[in-house]
Amino acid sequence: MESKVTEVAPDVYRISTFHPDYQIQFNQFLIKDDEPFLMHTGFRRMFELTRAAVASVIDPATLRWIGFSHFEPDECGALNEWLGIAPQAQPVCSFVGSTVMLNDFADRPARPLNDNETFEIGRRRLRFLATPHVPHGWDAGLFFEETDRTLLCSDLFFHPGDPEPMTESDIIGRARESIIAGQKSPLAKDMPYTPYTHTTLQRLAGLEPQTLGLMHGSTYRGDGQKAILDWLR
Ligand SMILES: [Fe+2]
Ligand SMILES: [Fe+2]
Repeated sequence: MESKVTEVAPDVYRISTFHPDYQIQFNQFLIKDDEPFLMHTGFRRMFELTRAAVASVIDPATLRWIGFSHFEPDECGALNEWLGIAPQAQPVCSFVGSTVMLNDFADRPARPLNDNETFEIGRRRLRFLATPHVPHGWDAGLFFEETDRTLLCSDLFFHPGDPEPMTESDIIGRARESIIAGQKSPLAKDMPYTPYTHTTLQRLAGLEPQTLGLMHGSTYRGDGQKAILDWLR
């Protein structure tokens, strides 16, 4: 396996590794700034690959923030490996993620974020959105880079295979097809539709993102609001 690094928005680097066993991409997003931020650590067993890809952009030891949406091995499995090589690094996630998951799991305490809390990482400001059960997990949250309007959307709009790093064409159709195809799989029903789903997605659309950074699939550049509202139809 090897990781491909693509700058998908100014100073936002997509680190993509296609995993042949799963036949999907695992994408992390590195934001280069005074306090570098990494969204998702990737699997523990893929740490060396991710570390090498990060090293092509910044010195990995200078990583400051490690964000993730929800507690799963592809999102934060290599967290302790990262904490081991980056002395200033601290996990950032939802209060639930910090209290219920990381208090026991992480080698150093996380910084819990409130819904809608913002924090500066240098020239850029990130906004945290608590999004329980979107894409899935009680602890779920998402990060939004406000300057260039990049939404790091975790498993939302998942589509399989090893597609192009960036696209300006439809990702919603691909995501829909993958959910329909997935219903026959033992991994079906991964994205619940709860009483909060509709309002959460409307709220994400209201951010008017210009880039949707998908954890599994191509990054979308274009009218992110329209894409998210299309998903709701
Ligand atoms: Fe997930
Ligand atoms: Fe994922």
